[in-house]
Amino acid sequence: MRSDSDDLGFIHRFVPGRDQTRVPLLLLHGTGGDENDLIPLGQRLSPGAALLSPRGKVLENGMPRFFRREGEGVWDLADFGMRTVELAEFVLRARAAYGIGAPIALGFSNGANIAWSLLADDPTLLAGAILMRAMMPFDPRPLPDLSAKPVLILAGVDDPMVPVDQAALLAALLGEAGAQVTYEVVSGGHGLTGDDLSLAASWLARHG
Ligand code: MLT
Repeated sequence: MRSDSDDLGFIHRFVPGRDQTRVPLLLLHGTGGDENDLIPLGQRLSPGAALLSPRGKVLENGMPRFFRREGEGVWDLADFGMRTVELAEFVLRARAAYGIGAPIALGFSNGANIAWSLLADDPTLLAGAILMRAMMPFDPRPLPDLSAKPVLILAGVDDPMVPVDQAALLAALLGEAGAQVTYEVVSGGHGLTGDDLSLAASWLARHG
């Protein structure tokens, strides 16, 4: 396991791949998480895949996030755009530094939200995305051509933070942009369930 500082612009961890047939994963944590949070999940869902895991730079009451918000579901859209570009630049630098190809983003909550924004900002940056408990609180159109980009969206039917209709809207918009969207609603809330993990693992077995 290798731990890295912020030499590429973000504090992050990188775990080299042991299985070169697996697509690298870009792990994006939720609010209050850090670069360590999703490493075990990545290792479990795609054993042997290279893992790149940055820590969000924005602090909300001391909790790391990937962009600012004014309240629950009220995003600072200027910051959202700027942080998307900044994170995309980090991913490109890390791809060159570690010699990895385009990763699949695996994002939870706030990390899932910046993940779809990365995809929309530059369709070539990512090989696909797993968006766990993502939301779409505004209309991001026009979206670029996301033709055939595989995306798995996992929503919780009783999620008190992300209304299921927002996850459905996200699925519809990404599908409209051409992405190959798989949209699943599991029984559960904002936290991940065993169903999320098995759906993500079987999707990754097909796309990762
Ligand atoms: C967000 O701001 O990205 C969403 O509200 C998810 C969260 O981090 O709680």
